Amino acid sequence: MTKTYHIITFGCQMNERDSETLAGMLEAEGFVKTEDKNAADVVILNTCSVRENADKKFFGVLGQLKHPREENPEKTVCVCGCMMQQQHVIDTLKQKYPWVDLVFGTHNVSEFPKLLKGVRETKTKVVEVWEDGRAMAEGLPAKRDYSFKAYVNIMYGCNNFCTYCIVPYTRGRERSRRPEEILAEIRDLAARGCKEVTLLGQNVNSYGKVKHGEGSYCYLEEPEGQGVDFAKLLRMADEVEGIERIRFMTSHPKDLSDDLIEVFRDCRHLCHAFHLPVQSGSDRILKKMNRHYDRERYFERVAKLREACPDIALSTDIIVGFPGETEEDFEDTMDLVRRVRYDSAFTFLYSVRRGTPAAAMEDQVPEEVKHQRFNRLIDLVHQIQEEKAAEDQNKIVPVLIEGFSKTDKTMLTGRMESGKTVDLPGSADLIGQIVPVRITKAQTFSCYGETVL
Ligand code: SAH
Ligand code: SF4
Ligand code: F3S
Repeated sequence: MTKTYHIITFGCQMNERDSETLAGMLEAEGFVKTEDKNAADVVILNTCSVRENADKKFFGVLGQLKHPREENPEKTVCVCGCMMQQQHVIDTLKQKYPWVDLVFGTHNVSEFPKLLKGVRETKTKVVEVWEDGRAMAEGLPAKRDYSFKAYVNIMYGCNNFCTYCIVPYTRGRERSRRPEEILAEIRDLAARGCKEVTLLGQNVNSYGKVKHGEGSYCYLEEPEGQGVDFAKLLRMADEVEGIERIRFMTSHPKDLSDDLIEVFRDCRHLCHAFHLPVQSGSDRILKKMNRHYDRERYFERVAKLREACPDIALSTDIIVGFPGETEEDFEDTMDLVRRVRYDSAFTFLYSVRRGTPAAAMEDQVPEEVKHQRFNRLIDLVHQIQEEKAAEDQNKIVPVLIEGFSKTDKTMLTGRMESGKTVDLPGSADLIGQIVPVRITKAQTFSCYGETVL
């Protein structure tokens, strides 16, 4: 009988992309996807550790699998992802969830088929988490979630060590894929009808700057004038026939070069959207966060981006309640938000991450103060979004149609270049196409529109 699998992914696009690889490897072994995690022969939980909430969600879902696992000795429960790179998580799993069959980490995703086979054949539990430092795997299969849009990793890991962040510990040191591997993947996607690619890295602006591990790319090692930095990589991706939209995530303000800004003037397929996490508007806090820029530098980068690309949609990440944040620091964040006027902002309550420098800082902000500031910030962000949304009314914009609307199955849904969703009437044959749409009802978080033929 055909064996089934179910994957639950927590966290960021990196994890989503890894899950596509896991799915691809399972399908290569003959497994088929099921929506039912309780009935699936193989369940994988791909975890995130960026905030405490993510940890909690994982343990909640894992707990639900205990009974189905005990009922069915043929079922294999696998856990992987960022949480597994932390010893205290492995210890908790061993003590409280001994029925979990397979544990692996972010550095040995490519080993998954071998590990799974071993576990299923011998019925023994396996915990295999690699430390950072081995070669990057290329050419793994992938079962992509969509045919018309795709994530493409350009680099892995992070060297920035922002003092609040767990990612450098869970994903290891920064290493970049070779440009020819990246371009081959984009060309292959285009040949199969993909229209939009999102280039992924924790800090795409430092693509190719440092070398780590076997096979990683460093443009400084190339002959004079031939190295490929991020701006050049975008220019090369822009030339790939068939790719109509290029996006990227995430960009660190400290490394945002003039060259990259220039790319927005020249590249035809680059979406006019930029995610530029600021984290805080206070110079004092930015310093404690180890972000290596100050608010003036941030304003200057934003001004230059808007000068090169006046209709660029700006989004950001902001952390509220970092240790030592005073009312004055928080007001600096509010002021920065008022001045930049983001199209959207992801706001987070600071969450203590074990092992990071900020976790050991003494002046943690009380929960109620954090929450109160958080609410004030959200109100401001929403008010600005509402004002900006009104500007979209009656505009005609290109929209990539992604499928049927989740809230109304008779409507299609798609995305503008800014990333905002638009619901519109239309038939299924438009799915995967980029069509001109007039915005008939502009709202804060999503819009309604109609195709213009
Ligand atoms: N590499 C990306 C972001 C990775 S994590 C970058 O540097 O922008 C995504 C976001 O989660 C971060 O931008 C930050 O705003 C938030 N985040 C990370 N660690 C956090 C923590 N300990 N508490 C709250 N938010 C956090
Ligand atoms: Fe975390 Fe900072 Fe690296 Fe982003 S740049 S992943 S916030 S350490
Ligand atoms: Fe989470 Fe790991 Fe991404 S901690 S945000 S899944 S890199």
